[in-house]
Amino acid sequence: MKVVDTPQKMRKLAEFLRRDDAPLGLVPTMGALHEGHKSLIARATSECGAVVVSIFVNPAQFAAGEDYDTYPRTFEADLETCREMGAACAYAPKASSMYPGGYDTWVDVPGLGAPLCGSHRAGHFRGVATVVLKLFSACLPHRAYFGEKDYQQLVLLRRMTHDLDLGVEIVPCPIIREEDGIALSSRNAYLSAEERLRARAISVALFDAKKTVAAGERFSVAIIQSCLDKLKKAGSRVDYVEIVDPATLERVETINGAARMAVAAYIGETRLIDNILLEPRDEA
Ligand code: PAJ
Repeated sequence: MKVVDTPQKMRKLAEFLRRDDAPLGLVPTMGALHEGHKSLIARATSECGAVVVSIFVNPAQFAAGEDYDTYPRTFEADLETCREMGAACAYAPKASSMYPGGYDTWVDVPGLGAPLCGSHRAGHFRGVATVVLKLFSACLPHRAYFGEKDYQQLVLLRRMTHDLDLGVEIVPCPIIREEDGIALSSRNAYLSAEERLRARAISVALFDAKKTVAAGERFSVAIIQSCLDKLKKAGSRVDYVEIVDPATLERVETINGAARMAVAAYIGETRLIDNILLEPRDEA
């Protein structure tokens, strides 16, 4: 497996790896790889001729006061994971080669970037869209794999890829959860044992909502309130609980078709996000 640390070297290798008869896959990550990331890499290696895993803690998507400095970094173990999983290349640029002095070009997807996490993390999605476009331009993938765990990110990157004619197929991958339901996240490493137990409330509330909707409840306000009650009981400070249209991310008041319920909540100092597909009972 090649380990590459600048966009220029990556582009050169990508030109070699990219072939017409077998797709080149890209799995963008910020490292601290866990089973969620691994599911994306496994899917990519099963579908592509060669796979690049990018490992880059992107400073541009962290606002001042967020956890850029303390974000878990397990670089050597990550390389081993990529190697074991059959990646052709790990692309791990330094911040200074991604954003050298004078860097001044940004990608904005204002509509899809505004709601949900966008209204709580200023500049976050601008940083995500920009870095992913830069990863695409260095790695030249035919396909790129993203988890539904970061649902808004997935929808927004699909929009960017379409709007800018990037010609990359965005492949959505399901959320990987621990046995007790909690969605895997690099940030789970911040939780104490006691917080880890309380964090279960998030996925429990989402799965309860899914059941309630499948049983016939249609009113978002009732479902959201019940979720808020459960999170409050777990001592969680909530950024948002919303039910949105899966494509536009606009709020849905009455659930008449598939919808996404999304949560961002603090357990202690740790901000966790999760979401679930809601499907109303078929009354035909
Ligand atoms: P990161 O949080 O490292 O996640 C990398 C990819 O793994 C994302 O597509 C994310 O949705 C997916 N992922 C994380 N946890 C998952 C889980 N439990 N199940 C399934 N997929 C999961 O998302 C980012 O990095 C960054 O914003 C990035 C796109 C790399 C741009 O910097």
